[in-house]
Amino acid sequence: MPVTAVIGGQWGDEGKGKIVDLLGADMDLVARYQGGANAGHTVQTGEQTFILHQIPSGILHPNVRCVLGNGMVIDPIALMEELDSLAANGIDTSDRVLLSTHAHIVTPLHQAMDRATGHIVGTTGRGIGLAYADKARRLGIRAVDLTDIRGLGGYILKRLKLGLNQGEIQKSDLPALKTEIEAFLHACSRMVSLLADTVQVLQEAIDRNDKVLIEGAQGTLLDIDFGTYPFVTSSSSGSGGIASGLGIPPRAVDRVIGIFKAYTTRVGNGPFPTELDDAIGKRLQDSGAEFGATTGRPRRCGWFDAVAGRYSCQVNGIDEIYLSKLDILDRFDELKICTGYTLDGVTIDGFSAAVHRLDKIEPHYETLPGWNASSADLTAAEQLPEAAQNYIGRVEELLGVPVTHVSIGAERNQILKR
Ligand code: IMO
Ligand code: MG
Repeated sequence: MPVTAVIGGQWGDEGKGKIVDLLGADMDLVARYQGGANAGHTVQTGEQTFILHQIPSGILHPNVRCVLGNGMVIDPIALMEELDSLAANGIDTSDRVLLSTHAHIVTPLHQAMDRATGHIVGTTGRGIGLAYADKARRLGIRAVDLTDIRGLGGYILKRLKLGLNQGEIQKSDLPALKTEIEAFLHACSRMVSLLADTVQVLQEAIDRNDKVLIEGAQGTLLDIDFGTYPFVTSSSSGSGGIASGLGIPPRAVDRVIGIFKAYTTRVGNGPFPTELDDAIGKRLQDSGAEFGATTGRPRRCGWFDAVAGRYSCQVNGIDEIYLSKLDILDRFDELKICTGYTLDGVTIDGFSAAVHRLDKIEPHYETLPGWNASSADLTAAEQLPEAAQNYIGRVEELLGVPVTHVSIGAERNQILKR
């Protein structure tokens, strides 16, 4: 299958980084189509742990080229830091990072505005939503505009004045902004060498039958259209965003892999029907090390939600599932899976009928026996305890899509093919 996409099936942090790294070994090109430095994709390679925010996780394989697509919003300072940090860890990225000329740019102004207003949604504070807002308001700048550094300075000044006039930016922000803008302009001038016509790059790769992997960031329930609006990110994080975020036709995507965590987590605000505000939730958080890779915030934890999961499979067209972090469920006597919702005393048929009233939902649970045994050292899926096999089988049944791989730890080899 020449073009494969990896999509987060829940509220992000499903383990996309690990899977993209795993599949990336066989790829020619890995591309991101949306989001920006709000993502935090962790890859553990023996001794080293890499957290990638904007550069696709395929970069760790020396022969893979990486595309940052037009649908992304790029933070130049963070991108340069990421490249420097890869270099410091022995990863040669030269000529392998291709930045779309049409990607929009996150400026320090967007970050200041996000810091001022982002607490309502509980954003990552990276300026993502504000940069996408400026894109839609026709006020944004794109990577191609960075070639004219004087023009760029003029743009920042103009946007700053507008922001001050409209009360989006406060006078008290100015001293910090001055320093940030200087660093921003410097990073922008370094970034110019990465510019590429990525639409052409991708078309050529597809024409050659190259192996292309598309890396989603965030997750379907954070998608601006299909997620729990307004508690969402500002891009189309589902598979629907791929065509517009990369400039390839929808039919070019041959296979969609959905990544689901074996339980559920969410960072930031917004409804979460299966959230466990108790000792079990705390246990999942501790044993799963559920702290944000971008912000360090503790992630909210809860049982697997098969109602949301099924919806996610439908809207993305998921062909197969990689179930991550199964080992975190190793030490439970019993486990629950949410199999239905009630709203105002009425059973709801499907997630889309309830997504706008999710805070009022009553989840129904099915209880399954736990396996109370370590899975971390297993080397084949057949070795999984029967109760674990049953748990996976039930997920599969409820979502209507096969679970083809199960991840049992952060290391590259801790994944079992079924
Ligand atoms: P990865 O790719 C989990 C969440 C934020 C917030 C909402 C909006 O690592 O899975 P934003 O900064 O995007 O405007 O914040 O989206 N969020 C994520 N949660 N994983 C992510 O990315 C996320 N990126 C954004 O916590 O609730
Ligand atoms: Mg994350």
